[in-house]
Amino acid sequence: MKDLLQLSTLSVEEIQHILDVAELCRQGEMIDSEKGRIVANLFFEPSTRTQYSFNTAQLKLGCKVINFNAQASSMQKGESFYDTVKTFESFGVDALVIRDRKDEYYRELIGRIHVPLLNAGDGKKDHPTQSLLDLMTIRQEFGRFEGLNIAIVGDIKYSRVAHTNIEVMQRLGMHCYVSGPQEYRDEQFDYIDFDQAVRQMDVIMLLRVQHERHEQAMSISTQEYHQKYGLTMERVNTMKEKAIIMHPAPFNRGVEIADEVVECEKSRIFKQIHNGVFVRMAVLKRAWED
Ligand code: CP
Repeated sequence: MKDLLQLSTLSVEEIQHILDVAELCRQGEMIDSEKGRIVANLFFEPSTRTQYSFNTAQLKLGCKVINFNAQASSMQKGESFYDTVKTFESFGVDALVIRDRKDEYYRELIGRIHVPLLNAGDGKKDHPTQSLLDLMTIRQEFGRFEGLNIAIVGDIKYSRVAHTNIEVMQRLGMHCYVSGPQEYRDEQFDYIDFDQAVRQMDVIMLLRVQHERHEQAMSISTQEYHQKYGLTMERVNTMKEKAIIMHPAPFNRGVEIADEVVECEKSRIFKQIHNGVFVRMAVLKRAWED
């Protein structure tokens, strides 16, 4: 039984192995290989991609799936997060996929819940499966990580995607930079001017401004954000020939990304979403390994 809580606890070799298994899943292997297992998806924060691509991965593996609805649950009568999770363990499910808005929500579960826990995103800290699908997409594109340059652009401070990715990408030998508005910068990372990044990077990864995690409204308008930090077709035309555009999504058209850039030739956004199913199949299989 193996939890997946933070990617930083996995070695580079373990990460490469998960990506190898995900590639086999993409090639059609592993279908129905976990028939009979029951998995519960407990999302205490909204999600489309993570929840339903886990759901798709579970169905491809042959699992039976419970999608918990917090709004129609006894949490509305005051039941706690811990007691809710413990209840699902007591049902006898074989794994729990959990997302919560609290950083490191899993701390109170460790040692008290005895089925594999897969972190589907905790606050602004970690999003392991998003990072794995980003890595899978980059590896497919370039065949390596070593020496590649990436700029992650936007709301770095509140982004679990940025925090997870920068830690693991640096370990894999990538050069990571951040860009975007001062108010969302995280000073521990190397800053690069946005237009310079667009011209020089191998990967431009855009982020949504995560208003739901902010106490104060953004200091600039969405129009100003788009003008200063939005990836427009004019900017795309200055990118290197083999450079690619990524975004974990959901994206805001006309803010961090222009409408016509979303599905342009350099965009890998929907490829990322496609790969998400296969990395989630791989981490589910890993959860049940000895
Ligand atoms: N990328 C991502 O985590 O999307 P969802 O919030 O829709 O799951």
